[in-house]
Amino acid sequence: NERCAVDGPRKDCGWLGINDLGCEARGCCWAPDYDSNKPWCFYKSAVASAYDMVSVRETDLGLEGELQLTTSGLPYLGHDIQQLKLSVQFETQGRLHVKISDWADSRWTVPESLLPRPSVSTAASDPLYAFNYQQSPFSFSVIRKEDGDVLFDTTEHSLFFKQQYLELSSPIAESAALYGIGERTRSEGIRLQRDGVPTTLWNKDTAAANADTNLYGSHPFLMAIAEGGNAHGIFLLNSNGMDVVLDKSTISYRALGGVLDFYFFLGPTPREVIQQYQEVIGKPMMPPGWSLGFHQCRWGYRNVQELDTVIESYRAADIPLEAMWTDIDYMDGYRDFTLDKKNFDLSQMRALVTKLHDAGQRWVPIIDPGIKVDTGYPAYDDGIREDIFLKDANGKRYIGKVWPGAVHFPDWFHPGAQDYWTAQLRQFHDNLVPFDGIWIDMNEASNFCQAPGEALQSNGLGRRGLSEAIACSHNISLRLNLEHPPYRINNAEKTAPLSEKTIPVSIVHHDGTFEYDAHNLYGFTEAQLTHRALEDILVERPFVLTRSSFSGSGQYTAHWSGDNSATWDDLRWSIGSVLNSNLFGMPMVGADICGFNLQTTEELCTRWISLGAFYPFSRAHSDHYPQELYLWDTVANAARKALKMRMRLVPYLYTAFKKANTEGGMVASPLWYEFPTDASTYDNSRQYLLGSGVLVSPVLEKGQDHVDAYIPEGTWYNIWDYSAIQGPQTAHLPCPLGEIQVHVRAGTIIPMQQPANTTKQAAAGPLDLIVALPPPGQGVKSAEQNVDQYAEGAVYMDGGAMAVNGPDSFTINFEARVSGQRGRLMAAPTFGGNALTAQHVPSLGNVTVLGVECGSQLHDPFWKEAATFSNVIVAGVR
Ligand code: NOJ
Repeated sequence: NERCAVDGPRKDCGWLGINDLGCEARGCCWAPDYDSNKPWCFYKSAVASAYDMVSVRETDLGLEGELQLTTSGLPYLGHDIQQLKLSVQFETQGRLHVKISDWADSRWTVPESLLPRPSVSTAASDPLYAFNYQQSPFSFSVIRKEDGDVLFDTTEHSLFFKQQYLELSSPIAESAALYGIGERTRSEGIRLQRDGVPTTLWNKDTAAANADTNLYGSHPFLMAIAEGGNAHGIFLLNSNGMDVVLDKSTISYRALGGVLDFYFFLGPTPREVIQQYQEVIGKPMMPPGWSLGFHQCRWGYRNVQELDTVIESYRAADIPLEAMWTDIDYMDGYRDFTLDKKNFDLSQMRALVTKLHDAGQRWVPIIDPGIKVDTGYPAYDDGIREDIFLKDANGKRYIGKVWPGAVHFPDWFHPGAQDYWTAQLRQFHDNLVPFDGIWIDMNEASNFCQAPGEALQSNGLGRRGLSEAIACSHNISLRLNLEHPPYRINNAEKTAPLSEKTIPVSIVHHDGTFEYDAHNLYGFTEAQLTHRALEDILVERPFVLTRSSFSGSGQYTAHWSGDNSATWDDLRWSIGSVLNSNLFGMPMVGADICGFNLQTTEELCTRWISLGAFYPFSRAHSDHYPQELYLWDTVANAARKALKMRMRLVPYLYTAFKKANTEGGMVASPLWYEFPTDASTYDNSRQYLLGSGVLVSPVLEKGQDHVDAYIPEGTWYNIWDYSAIQGPQTAHLPCPLGEIQVHVRAGTIIPMQQPANTTKQAAAGPLDLIVALPPPGQGVKSAEQNVDQYAEGAVYMDGGAMAVNGPDSFTINFEARVSGQRGRLMAAPTFGGNALTAQHVPSLGNVTVLGVECGSQLHDPFWKEAATFSNVIVAGVR
């Protein structure tokens, strides 16, 4: 007798193709709605599920309780778990952990061995939050003690805990600005739309150019900024497929399995939220310094000669090039760890890589997870012998189809997987070609096979190689409940079953885990194993670039936003993708510069390189289209200008990465990260900050020669001509084709290298500094008396050694103070090892002091001689 609340929030009960009869047969409501994205078939709102808390006890860390089902709802969604366990841990002052699991603890959870969670032994003594609960029916709330703000409250909502359907919801203030929940190309910018359309987390190989659908990675992390600027975060640690639904007033999580393992982060600043989140998922890896140079890639380089021509052309055009990449073209029949004998001849490839190395450049090849089924091919034979490929429940190896045709997929959960993978990469590196980093692609995992059991579409020979009917295992042991769970997540906009174009969810890992539970972790685990393999194989810190990711991937890998298109929309969206990846703890990120799919244009590519030079990870890549930066004069000029500035900024960027690696945090951040109380930053997805002191404001539209840039509070200096601008204001700044507006924030000291074409050459020159002083009296941070102007900064360097803070490393903290007519610049170094043996300490070059009457270029000949590097007075500035 429940009524259909047609105007309320709708919970999707059907999927594409369902009609009124089918919908009503499921006991759901049918109400077509042509004007919005609301589902037409939806659950009756009155249907509820509830538990009572039948016992509770205090623990050292918080409390534990037992929950018993009292009201069972939505029978279509399967069996309820009758008895649940609640565990509440007051882990730190800013972090609350609330976990609802089955009483028997037998359900899938993301293994600690993959993602170790921080262990805590005593409860935080004065947490920023209060945890309240009600026993019957059970509900809980999380409150910010300082102002009573209710951050999460399940009181008015059902708790569903079924075999294959978990649901928990809470109001979330309408006025709060929300971010996160991805991976997804957000066409409306990074601030989340509250339109009731589910954000689905189910890793999928679908083009990044397809906005607003599930993509390659899963990150169930949300950041909220309340009116006034207080931020909090919510992380649901759950790797199952899920929908997160936000409407005007509610957030609702609907997961296909696992447990409800929530972390609440109280901030109160966005930076603190990110740091608290990264204490759980792990802080971002420290990329090797060289990876901050510029990277060139293309799918479709036909042979070694073509690679060589590209490298030489960059040199001739005097455009920075750090690393040359090679896509699947180099392989022998798309077999990983092999070289095509004809076009990528071993001795020629070796010669090319030696030449690159001699010039201080690098080579990065692609590796896909699918191993060609091919007796006599070592990676296949070893995998069979060591039994590391994924199988179905009957023990039959699963055959999928990717570029090489029929493939097996490694089971990263297999205890032998690490050794297998390290051995393959090692033989490739040691016996074939010594790569410098590894690009892992197609690891959602992408599979050209349809879901088993689905009617085969006649796809002829498919995109490449064998027809699907021949290549794909279709007669595997299926678990129908897994293949078709009762709740249908919004996978690729409802048309796709879970197993569509990926490893079927009925496939079982070595430890008994179904792919159903672990699917979203496939790319995460591959990145983890690849990173560890490279730690064994290389002398320098590993560089891995992954497409697929999960919360915590940033510890191991860089990320790129995937297959975008050469359109102005994609250029715009790239900023959101870069910022979201930073929000998700993967700050080393970029988008394919100039666009991957479709033919780029001179203007678009020019604008794209001007922006892409300031992505944390800067790589041009395309699907066969030649669009190397030297091919058009306009693009080449823009590339030289922007990339040379990037090369100057490498020490600054590297230091920003070091800070994120040590303290947690973002490297490229939305403006609200630094200015959380400034509400005019909340909707800005067109600009961003690099570190805390560099503001990037690109032109993102065709035919424009100005940019309307928001300049936050304070004084900012144009990085090229040093002109000053005062915020807050929206400024209409000139930005002709070939240029980009980049500003340095007053109060910052920016360490810079020389504008060389590789990081190695750049590091050989002296270190320059930009000392950006605010006008007298503005924002003086120094505790000292009589300081009128103050700026600070730091530089971290380590020559790319494996260990961060290793013996070769050093940090120099800089402070500049101006009092009246006197100015001082102080440099306080700390050495990872012995100061005398420290390598790579550059000499000091130009110090450019901004914000004083006679902004001057100063040179300090004493830098190298100063034995302790402390209290080096560079010069008076007035
Ligand atoms: C898909 C990747 O996203 C793309 O970057 C790559 O070029 C192709 N696979 C071919 O390897």
